[in-house]
Amino acid sequence: MPLTEPVLTKRIPTPPWGDAADRHTVGYQEYAATGGYGTLAMALKMNPEAILDIVKDSQLRGRGGAGFPCGLKWSFLPEPDGGRRYLAINSDEAEPCTFKDRLLIDFDPHLVLEGIAITCYACRLDTAYFFIRGEYRTQVTIVENAIREAYEHGVFGSQGPLGTTGDFAVECYLHRSAGAYICGEETGLMEAIEGKRAWPRIKPPFPAVKGIFGRPTIINNVETLAAVVGIIEHGAQWWKSMGCESSIGAPPSYGPKLMGVSGHVNRPGCYEVDLGIPLNKLVETYCGGMRGGKRYKGAIAGGVSMGVLGPDQFEAEMDFDIGRKYQVLGLGTACPTIFDEDTDMVAVARNIARFFAKESCGQCTPCREGSAWMYKLLCRIEAGDATSKDLDLLLELAGSMGVMSGTTICGLADGNNWAIRTIVNKFRDEFEARVRFASVPSGAVSRAAQDE
Ligand SMILES: Cc1cc2nc3c(=O)[nH]c(=O)nc-3n(C[C@H](O)[C@H](O)[C@H](O)COP(=O)(O)O)c2cc1C
Ligand code: SF4
Repeated sequence: MPLTEPVLTKRIPTPPWGDAADRHTVGYQEYAATGGYGTLAMALKMNPEAILDIVKDSQLRGRGGAGFPCGLKWSFLPEPDGGRRYLAINSDEAEPCTFKDRLLIDFDPHLVLEGIAITCYACRLDTAYFFIRGEYRTQVTIVENAIREAYEHGVFGSQGPLGTTGDFAVECYLHRSAGAYICGEETGLMEAIEGKRAWPRIKPPFPAVKGIFGRPTIINNVETLAAVVGIIEHGAQWWKSMGCESSIGAPPSYGPKLMGVSGHVNRPGCYEVDLGIPLNKLVETYCGGMRGGKRYKGAIAGGVSMGVLGPDQFEAEMDFDIGRKYQVLGLGTACPTIFDEDTDMVAVARNIARFFAKESCGQCTPCREGSAWMYKLLCRIEAGDATSKDLDLLLELAGSMGVMSGTTICGLADGNNWAIRTIVNKFRDEFEARVRFASVPSGAVSRAAQDE
């Protein structure tokens, strides 16, 4: 597979195409001087329906985690009725190990803003909320400055974008997230924008029909919106020339993708690659190989909620088929964390379980109780205080919580379920050894206390 020339990162020097030391935030002037906002100008001369058709034809799949077809989602919107219609830009990015949207925000925020303006025009949305992770303090300032510049140059505001005089105009607001993982779940995000606690809502109704303040709403990830610019500029066929077809008869994985790689590699970082790149190639070609020449042991597939790849899955292709082919939940954010041979997978599971137990919003009993229970069990297993029955109980608990099992409102519980189940199933020996050689004195209680 050839290396794709930068698309999303064309203004962001990234190895192997450029030196990361040369990065800087691209302001309005530089963005416009390098062709920026030219695609918006072009889009404004087209019919909104024509833009929707191009995005549908490109088969762009959402980059926020679920891989839902972007054009299809947009087509769920009802016809405008004169009332408000919203776009929520999801840059909550609280999934552990995930740091890809931040790259775009840090260095090329106007690319995202141009994607927002084009999307609002195509979908006839008049209000955009840039929903940004609470901890991203530096990025908040960057986005605020970029939005201000965009207003000054007529991209946003009541006049109509870039001097257009029709009835279309967009207002864009920055909204800081409260700092909980659940704020990134799309219905939790809508509650947060409404000023409430970010408790996910039951679907249906879906946001396109009844979203923020009960009005039609599209929620898209930062990277998805950035991708829209290139698709409209170069066309659907161009987009489909990158990435890969499905090898199992599923929908394709077209286009480039930002992949943030962390863990035991020589050069952790966020790289733009073709979807479908094998994980080992990503590590060897972009990340300088395994750290210290150690052997690969496993990897978090794409954010902890996707689960882990096992020792024999280093060649897994990083595309939307990965869930069905390699027994993980999916590609997620496509940000893998690599573990070397020295990694204690029981400790990894305990650490992940702690995250989910803390981040459960508590509305659904299986998630609230199950996540805390799983964490306690894993503390016990790690400390050598558990029996094989505890291991069975852990798997039973994991398997009984989630939207997929029909027991919870949102997908946070599925993430917890898949993370724990895949680690235990793919590294069963390590867990059994802890249970078999259970030793006293116990560190279980102190381990949990230490985590606090
Ligand atoms: C617990 C949870 C957290 C999520 N966090 C994020 C997030 O931080 N950013 C994001 O884009 N999507 C996140 N999602 C997915 C969103 O619900 C939604 O699918 C996505 O923003 C849609 O955008 P896309 O279609 O462009 O991918 C999360 C989902 C769940 C279940
Ligand atoms: S699954 Fe968990 S996080 Fe999601 S709504 Fe239910 S309790 Fe809250």
